[in-house]
Amino acid sequence: MTTVRLNSADPVSFATDALIVGFRSGSETPLPVTSADALDAAFGGKLAASLTAAGFAGKPGEIAKVPTFGAITAPLLVAVGLGDKTDAETLRRAAGAAARSLAGTARAAVALPAESVGDAEAVALGALLGAYGFSRYRTGGDGKAPVAELDVLSPLDGEEAGRITARATALAESVSLVRDLVNTPPSDLWPAKFAEIAEQAAAEAGLAVEVLDEKQLKDGGYGGLIGVGQGSANPPRLVRLSYTHPEAAKTLAFVGKGITFDSGGLSLKPSASMDWMKSDMGGAAAVFGALLGIARLGVPVNAVGYLCLAENLPSGTAQRPSDVIHSYSGKTVEVLDTDAEGRLVLMDGIARAAEDSPDLIVDVATLTGAQIVALGWRTAGVMANDDAARELVVEAAAAAGEGAWGMPLPEELRKGLDSPIADIANLQPERWGSMLAAGIFLKEFVPDGVRWAHIDMAGPAFNKGEPYGYTPKGGTGAITRTLIGLAERHASI
Ligand code: BES
Ligand code: MN
Ligand code: ZN
Repeated sequence: MTTVRLNSADPVSFATDALIVGFRSGSETPLPVTSADALDAAFGGKLAASLTAAGFAGKPGEIAKVPTFGAITAPLLVAVGLGDKTDAETLRRAAGAAARSLAGTARAAVALPAESVGDAEAVALGALLGAYGFSRYRTGGDGKAPVAELDVLSPLDGEEAGRITARATALAESVSLVRDLVNTPPSDLWPAKFAEIAEQAAAEAGLAVEVLDEKQLKDGGYGGLIGVGQGSANPPRLVRLSYTHPEAAKTLAFVGKGITFDSGGLSLKPSASMDWMKSDMGGAAAVFGALLGIARLGVPVNAVGYLCLAENLPSGTAQRPSDVIHSYSGKTVEVLDTDAEGRLVLMDGIARAAEDSPDLIVDVATLTGAQIVALGWRTAGVMANDDAARELVVEAAAAAGEGAWGMPLPEELRKGLDSPIADIANLQPERWGSMLAAGIFLKEFVPDGVRWAHIDMAGPAFNKGEPYGYTPKGGTGAITRTLIGLAERHASI
């Protein structure tokens, strides 16, 4: 991965391949936000006017590359727009967009506001997140390796600088791992393989790990995981990762939907909705990445992560619409649609997580197309059985710069999930409010008195469009940093 350090060097004389400079949109010409006078002098007072002539206005995410012809030591200046804001997310996005635009370049320095700890971390983190590439499947690479070395130009130094870069690196490594997993094709990532990766990483990070295989799941009464996974030659797994801190006062449980491929099962999806369903394990990946990040940062909290892993395929052994399954909680579920599988693996994961007596359970899932209908590609829906818990998740997401919005769980939707023969059906007959109905379904598996929140990130987990800010095409790593932030909000010191 890309390495980052803070450096108090002078942007004009610093030797690097490219100097990234942030610009605010101004009334006439864009204005550099750092070292404005020195840069202006180096370019003979013509930098802003030249950028304007090239059509650069300093709008958020806008990039202009300018050869420096020796005016400064770096041969290339990358101007990145900030618009009229310099909050943390604006800095992360600008640093990310600029770093991304430099793929194929070895070294870059970033001259964006980095005087405070928060700003310096935002710049370092954004640059690292933007400098992401996934070339594992290109023979001979793609000739566009991410920037290898980043210098964030900042007056902060010593231990403080070390803490900032360590934190940014830990967060970026967690997110990169999640993106890699989401981008990996299902031929190379099936439940047992994911479990193996988790076991290995957990051992390295000092996390306790337990994996239940299909036999243990069957014997243990995990009817949801078994039912969803039974159509595939790659059987399901439940992974439990646990991180404990000696000074922890609180315990958090995260439960991730880990469908390594969602074909819909016998309720088969059309091909156009299926080709990106390798991303249906994004929730489990976020939980996995978050646990590693929490361990790496040494957050004083206890955290348990459940990865509910199964592959949803049609076959002679697949579950049928109208099958009734026995969930881990003891409740029976009529499977009216095998494509509503996420809630079936989560219901087992949530009921199991409740046995850890956590202060809060948060499940994360690419659960419904209805989330995308309601909130679009970049905003996850957050539901909960407790208003304060929901607001806490929304706040943690906002602080991380991840889109998330609180949604209700209207009581009247429960009736639509009545089954004529079982305790509950996995689908309501009408499509309206399907994101909320899925939340209502999950809520039934949370024992009384347990605080629970549900994050539906069907849209945010995978970027089908063009890259933006620090977000690449494909796996985004969404919600990983929100979960780490939630752990920090539950920290004892
Ligand atoms: N994995 C899908 C949801 C999804 C859709 C994620 C688009 C990402 C992008 C989920 O398992 C699913 O198929 N949901 C169905 C539920 C329906 C059958 C109630 C849906 O949303 O159509
Ligand atoms: Mn599905
Ligand atoms: Zn799914």
